[in-house]
Amino acid sequence: MKSIDKQQAQRLFVTGLSLITSYGPCGRNIMAAEWTMQISYEPMLIAVFLHEGSSTLKNIKETKYFGINVASEEQTELISVAGGYSRKEIDKLKIRNLFQTRPNKKQFPLIAGCIINTECKLFMIKKIGDHTMIVGKVTSIRYDKAKKPLIYHNNRYFRVGQMIEPVRDEVKIDEKMFDMFCAKNQNKFILKCVGAIVRSKNKILILSNNIEQDAIKTIPYIIPTRDKDNKKELENYLENLKLDISLKDEPKIRRLFVKNESRYQRINFILFEGSLRNKSKSITWKSVKEDSFLRSLIK
Ligand SMILES: Cc1cc2nc3c(=O)[nH]c(=O)nc-3n(C[C@H](O)[C@H](O)[C@H](O)COP(=O)(O)O)c2cc1C
Repeated sequence: MKSIDKQQAQRLFVTGLSLITSYGPCGRNIMAAEWTMQISYEPMLIAVFLHEGSSTLKNIKETKYFGINVASEEQTELISVAGGYSRKEIDKLKIRNLFQTRPNKKQFPLIAGCIINTECKLFMIKKIGDHTMIVGKVTSIRYDKAKKPLIYHNNRYFRVGQMIEPVRDEVKIDEKMFDMFCAKNQNKFILKCVGAIVRSKNKILILSNNIEQDAIKTIPYIIPTRDKDNKKELENYLENLKLDISLKDEPKIRRLFVKNESRYQRINFILFEGSLRNKSKSITWKSVKEDSFLRSLIK
């Protein structure tokens, strides 16, 4: 691997930026760190990767307490100064009119104007490659939702851009079918379904998915159990229905945005193509022309 390629590629990662505050043998201090990320919810842990020469690392090794202040888009100058000078060179926190601090009982400061401020206790420390990972356990946290995070990419600062709408096909379905999916959804953000597409010319095998008395006929499908093999579960379901269908590997995924009047929900269908082994059984087939939902599934 050419080192020029490595250098160029390394710049293409996208990160946020944080100001790490500390105190200790090097005095009160602040540095910039792009390599900062939350790594556990409970306990809430944040890892920061610090180079060996940093005064911040020396401080934290000694005192075991530090602050992580996630920078907002107004703080590019603060990051450039905190990252451009070492405490060995200058007491950065004393530079006039630059770092405004928040009231704080700890000996390290918390920085005003950030999107998140946390106080951390050292939870773990480990040298990894040419940096040392310090993991902080969050002991207190505050955030400001009005602030926007600062983004770092290719040695440049950015703001968060326009949200990208997820790619989903919109399909209108009737009220009964919508209610059936709602009943199965139980307030999940996305309803995950696994179904079988069995074709015969322009027709698709459909079944009664009788969740209430009004049976709704559509492809055979299940709501899979989390962490269980989707294909095996579907095969078991078909077997219980005495449907002798062999399913191919390599399913496709259809991500739908189904609508009925003003109601909508997101549904993901993992779909296995199947073929009926025993055609003698009385089976219901439906032409895809008649059914927009089926059409959206086989697209
Ligand atoms: C945008 C930016 C991001 C940085 N990210 C990191 C980082 O993730 N880890 C690190 O060790 N140094 C990082 N640095 C470099 C340190 O902030 C820099 O070496 C600083 O002078 C260390 O300060 P200290 O010696 O006072 O602790 C970054 C610098 C900048 C400008």
